[in-house]
Amino acid sequence: MQATVPAGLDRKEAEVYQRLDPDRLPKHIAIIMDGNGRWARRRHLPRIAGHRAGVASVRSTVETASRIGIPALTLYAFSEENWKKRPRSEVDFLMGLLCRYLKAEVPTLNKNNIRLEYIGRQQELPAVVQEKMKWAREATARNSGMLLTLALNYSARSELVDAFRSMVEAAANNGGLQHLKIDEEAVARNLYTRHLADPDLVIRTSGEMRLSNFLLWQLAYAEIYVTPTLWPEFGGVHLLEGIAEYQKRERRYGGLADDGSQPHNSNHSKTDRS
Ligand code: FPP
Repeated sequence: MQATVPAGLDRKEAEVYQRLDPDRLPKHIAIIMDGNGRWARRRHLPRIAGHRAGVASVRSTVETASRIGIPALTLYAFSEENWKKRPRSEVDFLMGLLCRYLKAEVPTLNKNNIRLEYIGRQQELPAVVQEKMKWAREATARNSGMLLTLALNYSARSELVDAFRSMVEAAANNGGLQHLKIDEEAVARNLYTRHLADPDLVIRTSGEMRLSNFLLWQLAYAEIYVTPTLWPEFGGVHLLEGIAEYQKRERRYGGLADDGSQPHNSNHSKTDRS
């Protein structure tokens, strides 16, 4: 029997969706959006034209993920390294683009019942951007559908440093370092993603086979899907293709092959490693 296609999918998306098992959708998808610059270069356009075109891909991906009932989507928008290594003019453009995106998109996020969150060192972003981010988060805070998390000024290594600092600080303020207890749960509770389950699937566009300092702790058991599609050409249908590929994989979490001893998408075993 074919799966009932959720409202709002276009013909191509519906075709791919019908190949999916709706009971085995990933609960959290993380995406490394890459290739804006190459997209622009191939068209003899300035890099910022690629970023501008990338906003439409964000919109399409977010809407499709929400329509098919993905509980959480996390997008790597700007890394900490992006700030340090890109020309000031490009960084300023990206800041403005983010503010315009937030202003324009909040009504659509509300219409789709999507809640917005952020990860990354927000305190280092320009004050005006922080204000717009706060406004958009508050404007969507009561939504109960998909959680959209934007990684902004994000670095996984900085996140781990911040987590260890906050554990040490909390212990120092609560009777001293002899009370410091560090285990996997404690680290996870102190990450920016404490509100999120680990991603089941990470997608990277533009063909690069790297994690680029993205969610290094949280992606420990994620399935990785790399597509050659450049981010400005990515959209809902590509997201669904990524999910179709994910559903072909056997998730083992360090356990045995799928011979009955370790079912597909079984719960993460904290003790097994592979
Ligand atoms: C990577 O492409 C993309 C970025 C650094 C910026 C991502 C921004 C967007 C997708 C648009 C705005 C997003 C939001 C949430 C409003 P690249 O420039 O590294 O491409 P290249 O590797 O081809 O040079």
